[in-house]
Amino acid sequence: MVLWGLLSLFLLVPHQAIASLGRKHLAQDPSVDGICASSVIVHGYKCKELEVTTKDGFILSLQRIPQGRAEVNSSGSTKKQPVIIQHGVLVDGMTWLLNPPEQDLPLILADNGFDVWIANARGTRYSRRHTSLDPSNPAFWNWSWDEIVTYDLPAIFDYVYSQTGQKINYVGHSMGTLIALASFSEGKLVNQLKSAALLSPIAYLSHMNTALGVVAAKSFVGEITTLFGLPEFNPKGLPAAAFVKSLCFHPGVNCYDLLPSLTGKNCCLNSSTVDLFVMNEPQPTSTKNMVHLAQTVRHGVLAKFNYERPDYNIMHYGEAFPPLYNLSNIPHDLPLFISYGGQDALSDVRDVGNLLDSLKLHDVDKLSVQFIKDYAHADYVMGFNAKDLVYNPIVAFFRRQFDT
Ligand SMILES: *[C@@H]1O[C@H](CO)[C@@H](O)[C@H](O)[C@H]1NC(C)=O
Ligand SMILES: *[C@@H]1O[C@H](CO)[C@@H](O)[C@H](O)[C@H]1NC(C)=O
Ligand SMILES: *[C@@H]1O[C@H](CO)[C@@H](O)[C@H](O)[C@H]1NC(C)=O
Ligand SMILES: *[C@@H]1O[C@H](CO)[C@@H](O)[C@H](O)[C@H]1NC(C)=O
Repeated sequence: MVLWGLLSLFLLVPHQAIASLGRKHLAQDPSVDGICASSVIVHGYKCKELEVTTKDGFILSLQRIPQGRAEVNSSGSTKKQPVIIQHGVLVDGMTWLLNPPEQDLPLILADNGFDVWIANARGTRYSRRHTSLDPSNPAFWNWSWDEIVTYDLPAIFDYVYSQTGQKINYVGHSMGTLIALASFSEGKLVNQLKSAALLSPIAYLSHMNTALGVVAAKSFVGEITTLFGLPEFNPKGLPAAAFVKSLCFHPGVNCYDLLPSLTGKNCCLNSSTVDLFVMNEPQPTSTKNMVHLAQTVRHGVLAKFNYERPDYNIMHYGEAFPPLYNLSNIPHDLPLFISYGGQDALSDVRDVGNLLDSLKLHDVDKLSVQFIKDYAHADYVMGFNAKDLVYNPIVAFFRRQFDT
């Protein structure tokens, strides 16, 4: 989710963790019991832990909430529309379930008659398995969001489509929007897709100008793997923590007030939710993925991973520069809902403007754009008023597509 913010949020962990000692918000320990048991079933919903294997061997975990709380004792025979919910970078599916249940997007969708599927990206705690590679093997971490576009999303969509026989609605936040836009621009997923809601959309990142973000983006270059000696980027692990701490000595970087200075000033986070967030996130990703995201910041274009050497790019792509994802190629009749916040430092209003510009040929009646002046990046996932401001409009948007 929160791009650079989360990368550094763990610096706050010690005091936050102390603040929340003795408070047990979750009935079960998510590290042992999984997301369904810790955060869904406890609230009276059905939930099933599932797994999907990608063509390149990653075993991803997926939670299905097939119906609302009121229907929990019914057979569930009515046909419902599926929704896949995709989180951003450095967090996992749990991030959608940290507020009280009546404020959480997956449960709100289930109560509104949707069949909800929560995705967990490769490398995060419940998606750290592979048919042949162990996470301790550097080859396990040899991917960026290009591979999430090429392998993870198609595997998840194929699975949900095969299980439900229905076209799919999608909700993505932050990197969950980037990978969706990139996929749609290549014509992937669109045949199985009904509509997509994109929150805090990330496609261009040129204006992401918070001090730590810019320093981090400059630092995450191809050579970083040698610097770390570890292709896993675990913000809670020592090499990454030392790296982030070193960034804090750059002028203008205030590491004592990270969350607002990185994500923008979130208007609407409850401190008890922030405590839970800090206990559950951030989650690891690959260093190569961080490098790829940093390239998006530096280069201002949406392109495949740049090996930063023409000969390597030629080896991988047959061209000296990596191919672009051209967002103008997203099918113009695909129903899209885009919501962005006036205080979002990661999904800057000017960058969203560029995104909307590349969608200017989109069918007017297929594009809904919402602007929330006070919202920053994390409000979209954990805001205590997100139900009224964002999630109810998403439900209404999905319902408008029912008859089309
Ligand atoms: C479902 O059934 C259980 C056991 O019979 C009962 O305790 C619970 O209140 C029921 N829930 C609903 C929403 O009807
Ligand atoms: C990483 O994957 C690429 C193909 O995408 C391959 O060319 C390269 O050899 C792999 N590197 C490692 C260290 O596994
Ligand atoms: C924040 O969370 C606490 C504890 O769950 C709750 O009592 C309070 O009403 C919440 N505040 C808002 C604005 O939702
Ligand atoms: C993207 O595609 C559109 C139309 O398909 C084309 O006009 C435009 O030149 C392309 N942009 C780039 C950067 O290739």
